[in-house]
Amino acid sequence: MKLIIDNANIDEIRSMYEFFPMDGVTCNPTILAKEKRPPYEVLKEIRDFIEEGELHVQVVSDLADNMVEEAYKIRKELGDDTFIKIPTTKEGLKAIRILAAAGIRVTATAIYTQMQAFLAAKAGALYVAPYINRIDNLGSDGVRTAKEIHDMFRNYKFKTEVLAASFKNSRQVISLCEYGIGATTISPDVLDLLIKNDSVTAALNVFRKDFEKLCGKGKTMLDCE
Ligand code: G3P
Repeated sequence: MKLIIDNANIDEIRSMYEFFPMDGVTCNPTILAKEKRPPYEVLKEIRDFIEEGELHVQVVSDLADNMVEEAYKIRKELGDDTFIKIPTTKEGLKAIRILAAAGIRVTATAIYTQMQAFLAAKAGALYVAPYINRIDNLGSDGVRTAKEIHDMFRNYKFKTEVLAASFKNSRQVISLCEYGIGATTISPDVLDLLIKNDSVTAALNVFRKDFEKLCGKGKTMLDCE
């Protein structure tokens, strides 16, 4: 499962890359707005930092022709490898088909239903991004939806992968990880939850204290006798 950061803050991205085995960065217009800086300035910094990592950038327009124009501008500014996030509306489907036919990498986003995912995959998207927590908040089941989309793609032998987005807790991520979902994009606070565990901290504190009783305060395997 690819592990992608859903964030556009370069300091947080640097910090996540320092500790976690990351595969790239996604963002959306809301995430970019939080930076309060020109979008391409922010995105170019991210592009340079993540080197070969995947960068997924979303268009803002509603109409297909404008989405396509935005896609070409994004690629011109950030490179041809950039994944263009297209909202999976009727106009979006048209844009996905045009872009995919031109060999442009598309991530179909704002996915709430299996039908949207099916249509986006058939139109040529390489990823579809179901919004796990937002689906949960509609009284449905985001994890189940993502799994059903994954199964549907396997049944049809589509090469499209699920890039699950919108997580609010570690259980949602782990369920999809166990299932073999292609990728998840996760905010830094939820990424931290995946490794934070007070029982681990307590166990390590006992190991350290016992070792210090044997060898002296601050001693490690580096400087003990
Ligand atoms: O890009 C879509 C995804 O990031 C939405 O996440 O946390 O705003 O529901 P969230």
